[in-house]
Amino acid sequence: MSTNMPEIVFQKIKSVNNPNSMHGIYPYRGKISAIDAISIIDQLPNKGTLLDPFCGSGTIVYEAQKHGLSAYGVDNNPLAIQLAKAKIYIGNTDILEECKSFIEKAKNDLANGNYEKMPDAPARSFHIDSANEIMSMKKYFSEMNDYLKGVFYGTIALVARGCNDYMWTSSTVGKNIEPKRYIDFFDKFYSKAKKHSKYFNSSESPEAHIIHGDSRKLSDYLEPKSINYVFTSPPYFDGLDYTAYYGKLIYEIFETDRVEIKKQLIQYVDTYENDMRAVLNELDKVISDNAIMIFVVGDKKIKKEVINGGDFFSSIKKASYIEERRYTGTSSQVFDVLNNTDRKEQIVVWKKVKGEYVNGI
Ligand SMILES: C[S@@+](CC[C@H](N)C(=O)[O-])C[C@H]1O[C@@H](n2cnc3c(N)ncnc32)[C@H](O)[C@@H]1O
Repeated sequence: MSTNMPEIVFQKIKSVNNPNSMHGIYPYRGKISAIDAISIIDQLPNKGTLLDPFCGSGTIVYEAQKHGLSAYGVDNNPLAIQLAKAKIYIGNTDILEECKSFIEKAKNDLANGNYEKMPDAPARSFHIDSANEIMSMKKYFSEMNDYLKGVFYGTIALVARGCNDYMWTSSTVGKNIEPKRYIDFFDKFYSKAKKHSKYFNSSESPEAHIIHGDSRKLSDYLEPKSINYVFTSPPYFDGLDYTAYYGKLIYEIFETDRVEIKKQLIQYVDTYENDMRAVLNELDKVISDNAIMIFVVGDKKIKKEVINGGDFFSSIKKASYIEERRYTGTSSQVFDVLNNTDRKEQIVVWKKVKGEYVNGI
């Protein structure tokens, strides 16, 4: 590996929307803007291995693989793991034939009453006919490949929005709207599968691996000194519950205990610093002697005090440099105007050269 590591520069962004890409497969909370991810990944060489220790729905892993890097993603939320696996699935157009055959089988079961009723809690968010269609398709979930599993989750979120007259946003679930609108689940499932299948990474791409695990134990899953680049947007204090919103509906439909899953995630203010210290220690074991680590963080208001994310991470492990950016032209800027806040985002960069962390660029 070359020791000539690039200086990573944060670009100004005009929009965080990615309407036509693999990333629209599911509205995962806290999803990093793909435009941002691409602009940083493009500054990395296209050889070597990248790790995202908090990969969420796999935006960074997918883009890294596309860029020509081998990639690892780790997350401890099973929903995120399935979505990340969906994004890196390398498929072809046969997938649409598979999709049709699942729809046909599910429609048959539906006509014959051969399916389970949706549990009451999630059923409150759907039109009864849409809910029944979801349950008739759920029977075939275990037979689906990783891509169609991700599409299945994404279609549930889309149909939940539609049944509530599209009054819910793309990432948050609102109040239940009555009467419910009927949305054809099968139709949406097929069109979603078709739409995102245009963006499969090429079969020539280097391998990508998604690991269901805890980033406080990274060295249990990865070889020592095997990673050249770390790029992530970490969970941030108690800002977001990654098992909530559309995820909650999915966990309820699959009768999975999401509270147990939530307990395994880093997000609590009191333990946050120790958790992140543990992650940075583990990262130190798995990165090579010449490596670059990039964390995209931001200001956070905790108990009326604004904590600068860059300073916070650098106090745990001194950063080589930090770049700061204001939210402009994004929904975060709208939030700032409404709440009279002026939050900033930071990109924290650590560079290791010949086994030593360096100060400066
Ligand atoms: C800001 S999100 C990352 C989103 C991702 N960049 C994307 O585009 O979808 C942070 C992620 O950290 C994960 N996480 C929280 N605690 C974790 C832990 N202890 N080990 C691994 N992942 C964890 C959460 O499940 C969440 O998916």
